[in-house]
Amino acid sequence: MAEPLLELRNLTTVFPMRRGAVNAVSGVNLRVQPGEILGIVGESGCGKSSVLLSILRLIRQPGHIAAGNIFFKGRDLRRLPQKKMRAIRGNEISMIFQDPLSTLNPVFPVGEQIREAMRLHGIANASPLPWPLAGRRSHEKQRVLDVMAEVGIPAPEARYRAYPHEFSGGMQQRALIAIALVCEPTLLLADEPTTALDVTIQAQIMEVMRRVNREHGAGIILVTHNLGLAAEFCDNIAVMYAGRIVERGPAQQVVDNPQHPYTRGLLACLPQISRQRSRIDPIPGEVPDLAGLPPGCAFIPRCSLARDACNSVDLRLRSLQANQYARCILYEDGVRYTVEEFS
Ligand SMILES: Nc1ncnc2c1ncn2[C@@H]1O[C@H](COP(=O)(O)OP(=O)(O)OP(=O)(O)O)[C@@H](O)[C@H]1O
Ligand code: SF4
Ligand SMILES: [Mg+2]
Repeated sequence: MAEPLLELRNLTTVFPMRRGAVNAVSGVNLRVQPGEILGIVGESGCGKSSVLLSILRLIRQPGHIAAGNIFFKGRDLRRLPQKKMRAIRGNEISMIFQDPLSTLNPVFPVGEQIREAMRLHGIANASPLPWPLAGRRSHEKQRVLDVMAEVGIPAPEARYRAYPHEFSGGMQQRALIAIALVCEPTLLLADEPTTALDVTIQAQIMEVMRRVNREHGAGIILVTHNLGLAAEFCDNIAVMYAGRIVERGPAQQVVDNPQHPYTRGLLACLPQISRQRSRIDPIPGEVPDLAGLPPGCAFIPRCSLARDACNSVDLRLRSLQANQYARCILYEDGVRYTVEEFS
């Protein structure tokens, strides 16, 4: 198998708070191959954004990465000096942040901000851009207009000088995507890039990202709470609960044949996938506070299959079938299945 574009080994990220240490990411192991689209799925507060921010070393202090490695093209990003890390951010790895307004600068026109991103990463004069967003003309501004058009910002010439507050939420999101894509990243981290958008625009944005993936070969991590969207868009899915990966595998396989009770719960919330059913069954209860979690499975209070042993066992991801893994007492007999952790 080719060297992974990204490999997380035992990634552990903690926010020390007065009420105790919040274990936002606990021992996460993940791989993204070049050109792969990986979906990270889970409810609010499960640690999805913290994984992405950890990859870019953007966890706000006093939060910090407490353990693990982040190998990107074979280099451990945790060990890189700040200067080199800055060069990787936005250049080789770029991120579409969950909150558009926190990324766009309110006092600069949107077009200028896209142009600035291009300049910052030293690609303003490269010609032609080797990917679908590329305009054929070498002029810097023309490239920005091309990118704006490509991500679906109508009348880019007229909007080049518009300020972020003059854009709708959907347009702001497109501007963010343009900023993230203009640097030709080899890895794109997309944190709920379409959640705030209506369905039609959602589909257009996903199509832009799909094209970038197909034609440029960029790897993508798509963070979403929507398992249906992840199933449609991603090659592989990792389901996250309470800071841990509880199931991962090929997208279609996980959706067709979910093994973890939490994944099954997420699927039951999707009327479009369980078509025979008209009812949506929300998972009872809510994601626990990740500060001072008791040992054992964090899903116990919400799981109809919970039993005494779930309290005490240190659960690991177990290999079930063709690249599908789950972390649950149901798969802990240690005989039928072999342990698979990255080593
Ligand atoms: N800066 C922070 N300071 C303190 N705790 C934080 C911080 N950022 C995240 N957390 C905590 O870490 C846990 C995981 O949060 P994270 O934002 O990664 O979840 P998420 O899956 O992205 O949720 P959402 O779907 O709501 O964006 C939560 O318990 C959250 O409260
Ligand atoms: S370990 Fe127990 S509580 Fe956790 S998901 Fe499996 S059966 Fe449910
Ligand atoms: Mg988030």
